[in-house]
Amino acid sequence: MTELNCLIVEKRDAVALITLSRPDALNALNSELFRELAITLDQVEADESIGAIVITGSDRAFAAGADIGEMKDMSYSQMLDDAGLTRHSDRVALCKKPVIAAVAGYALGGGCELAMMCDFIIAADNARFGQPEIKLGVVPGIGGTQRLTHLIGKSKAMDLCLTGRMMDVDEAERAGLVARVVPLDEYLDVALQAAAEIAAYSQPVTRNMKYLVNSALETPLEQGLAIERQMFKANFALDDQKEGMAAFVEKRSPEFKNR
Ligand code: HXC
Repeated sequence: MTELNCLIVEKRDAVALITLSRPDALNALNSELFRELAITLDQVEADESIGAIVITGSDRAFAAGADIGEMKDMSYSQMLDDAGLTRHSDRVALCKKPVIAAVAGYALGGGCELAMMCDFIIAADNARFGQPEIKLGVVPGIGGTQRLTHLIGKSKAMDLCLTGRMMDVDEAERAGLVARVVPLDEYLDVALQAAAEIAAYSQPVTRNMKYLVNSALETPLEQGLAIERQMFKANFALDDQKEGMAAFVEKRSPEFKNR
């Protein structure tokens, strides 16, 4: 593994646990962190022994946004060059393996956007979400107006983006942003357990599952249904389909081989 300054990466059996680690800045996302995250995901995707990923922060902050100190003096032309913060910022959304965000504390601005790039969010009961960019004189830059609107609808997304207010975890769960809310002392274990369950399934199937659910947000229903039907049929080319169904009939646990 490459030496990392902003992340802690651990392998927990078939799960990669990536912890954002800039404690002095509430895990503010700077270009070094985004670059390290991209390198780490390249390595994790290439590692066949890893079937799922958890991204987390600290109990106080998942991430309080992009690093304002790094951004504040940048020129328009520097931003256009994509040289800094935005260069690797979409990498999590492009990950082919399932990614769970385990969120406690603040998930603001780029932090909320990073959580939304993950496949789903398991949140601690102290989590707070928001897109406060308006207070800094900017709009969100890595999905805050787009993914948030897809996930929670126009009215609430407008409310959050235009006022910059934070929502607590109950509101976030009611709005559909968060998949599960759990006590602060359990959220990481719950996320790791969910990731371990996912990692035990067939990797080609979890990969296609991600593709299909994401397609539902981007394709008309009829087209999405057609893609799903084709992928369902294509599953029958996998040894793992034979193993999964044989195991059910034989009343034993399946052993998937990822092929
Ligand atoms: C850099 C940050 C930071 C950030 C916090 N810190 N957020 N540094 N960038 N986004 C630093 C503080 O400067 C402080 O450093 C330390 O973390 C602790 O923060 P405090 O403010 O002292 O803590 P607290 O009073 O508890 O308030 C927590 C907070 C507040 C409400 C989360 O820190 C806050 O409002 N942060 C900014 C949130 C934000 O606007 N995010 C959106 C950023 S724009 P020192 O050295 O003083 O101890 C964005 C655009 C995305 O994300 C586009 C992507 C390319």
